[in-house]
Amino acid sequence: MTQLVLTETLGRVGLIRINRPEAMNALNNDVVDGIAAAIDAFEADENIGCIVLTGNEKAFAAGADIGFMKDFDYMHAYKTDFITRNWERLKTTRKPVIAAVAGFALGGGCEMAMMCDLIFAADSAKFGQPEIRLGTLPGAGGTQRLPRAVGKAKAMDLCLTARMMDAAEAEKAGLVARVIPAEQLMEETLKAAQTIAGYSLPVVMMIKESVNRAFESSLNEGLLFERRVFHAAFTVEDQKEGMAAFVEKRKPVFKHR
Ligand code: CAA
Repeated sequence: MTQLVLTETLGRVGLIRINRPEAMNALNNDVVDGIAAAIDAFEADENIGCIVLTGNEKAFAAGADIGFMKDFDYMHAYKTDFITRNWERLKTTRKPVIAAVAGFALGGGCEMAMMCDLIFAADSAKFGQPEIRLGTLPGAGGTQRLPRAVGKAKAMDLCLTARMMDAAEAEKAGLVARVIPAEQLMEETLKAAQTIAGYSLPVVMMIKESVNRAFESSLNEGLLFERRVFHAAFTVEDQKEGMAAFVEKRKPVFKHR
């Protein structure tokens, strides 16, 4: 049987690849369970400092598997906690996750990319929330994360018309951090991931937690959270090393503690 989710460790980077090319990487339970298990493993591994989630050159993921869910009824979806149960593992990981997107990121595929901390898009990437065409709506966070990323106007446009947005538009709108020529997508993404993974892991986690607070609180509450975390960072051994190294004009050696 083909493995639907492949993992690889590259230095301090954990790479997760969705591997269902015959179905445009459509996300069924096995795929999403596989991604959640990979995250569990990388989260538990002290030697991993950053995670990359990717698909193939045609599709990051073309959405939730339509055939898999078409006959669901409310009670089944509710009792099995569809989506919340396993998709949201991406939301709860404390290590940074970069989505490397080439080709289609549609419906649940776009929503999965948006659950990551950063999206790097190949120039071939296409983003969209076309669920309305199927007689349903985005159900893995699209109606909430897309407006936060690109504003109400474009979010309404994508969700209500089902049109796709290309990489250039997605970068202009603030959905993606970088647009990269398709053939260099993995190289550049892994380079950035190695850079992040080279920094002090507890500090990386503190930054992720603090930036995410910006979406969960008022400015004053967010600033207070940041200040408390910043003060707490003086207890991190790597802070002493990082500042000492700067003053001594040498490269810091971080120990991730
Ligand atoms: N679920 C299940 N199978 C899918 C799929 C999906 N979301 N997307 C693509 N596939 C399958 C196709 O059925 C096809 O399978 P067969 O070869 O067995 O027929 C195979 O992948 C290749 O797809 P196409 O032949 O359609 O390829 P294409 O290049 O002509 O088109 C596409 C590509 C534009 C991505 C098109 O496949 C498409 O529109 N897919 C559906 C996109 C979509 O509606 N996504 C939203 C899903 S609902 C959702 O995600 C809900 C949520 O919020 C959680």
